[in-house]
Amino acid sequence: MMLDLAMKIGILTRNPQAWCNLQLKQAMVKLGVTPVCFSFKDVMGTIGLGAGVTLNGKPIEGELSAVIVRPIGSGSLEQIILRVDLLKAMEYLGVKVVNRGEAIEKAVDKYYSLLLLDRSGIPVPATIATESYGEALKGYKMLGKDTVLKPIFGSRGVGVARVEVDDVAVRIFRLLSSQRSVIYLQSYIPHGFSDIRAFVIGDRVVAAARRVSSYWKTNVAQGAWTKPVKLTPELEETAIKSASVLGCEVAGVDIMISRDGFFVNEVNSQPDWRGLQSTTSINIAEEIIRYVLSELRG
Ligand SMILES: Nc1ncnc2c1ncn2[C@@H]1O[C@H](COP(=O)(O)OP(=O)(O)OP(=O)(O)O)[C@@H](O)[C@H]1O
Ligand SMILES: [Mg+2]
Repeated sequence: MMLDLAMKIGILTRNPQAWCNLQLKQAMVKLGVTPVCFSFKDVMGTIGLGAGVTLNGKPIEGELSAVIVRPIGSGSLEQIILRVDLLKAMEYLGVKVVNRGEAIEKAVDKYYSLLLLDRSGIPVPATIATESYGEALKGYKMLGKDTVLKPIFGSRGVGVARVEVDDVAVRIFRLLSSQRSVIYLQSYIPHGFSDIRAFVIGDRVVAAARRVSSYWKTNVAQGAWTKPVKLTPELEETAIKSASVLGCEVAGVDIMISRDGFFVNEVNSQPDWRGLQSTTSINIAEEIIRYVLSELRG
């Protein structure tokens, strides 16, 4: 195998010392690639000046063959939109971006991503989304009054809340609509305090784990722990299809299982894999870099 030793791959991050980023850097060095950490603060989009994107003042396509987004970060709505736009602009210049701007755009939007999954025949929890207090109350009843309220652009379980008492629903929906927030509400899936995280790279699941919690939120960031799990072919196929529907080449697909079957909760377009790594001998960072390299060669 011939490797281009001068090849540089960017890690777009605000925290180059984060565990996943250290893993990616190690994997790159092992595979003969030079890692370059940078953040959106180092990037400028230009139009009419030679349409492009600069990284610290230089055309990005001359600096990097690919960019791994880890992660797009928090910010104002306009900052996030610009970041997604810049990822798209990088792609136009021939830089391989993982995940693509368009995929991240779809995946971070909980309503839109679930809509696309549902339209592709993937089972998802019954969900309503509205900016109206009155409609939200109707939706709450339609969902059987046993619900989970989520920020539409959520992260790590923060702000995800059970709503199952009418008075609480009335107060919270009224408050949210009065402050111009939207109400995104889902039926509660009785999953027995665990769910499945399937890590998809390209068209395969490279690792999967069961996340077990002491209460209904199963985010590792909320204290859940991970156990190895062998996926059924059906779940494996579902995870791969879910990632592909949203255009994610690297994805953490979360699946909840109840007595009524399985439901895809979400597709994380910039997944962490620290918990998952402890359950498998496969080096996930290396798998990601191998995938990016094979795409670059292809
Ligand atoms: N409909 C539901 N029924 C039961 N439990 C749910 C439901 N939706 C979410 N949960 C639990 O709450 C956790 C957090 O919800 P969710 O994954 O939707 O948001 P998030 O983790 O904050 O978002 P992100 O993964 O994008 O950071 C899930 O991991 C799951 O354990
Ligand atoms: Mg989640």
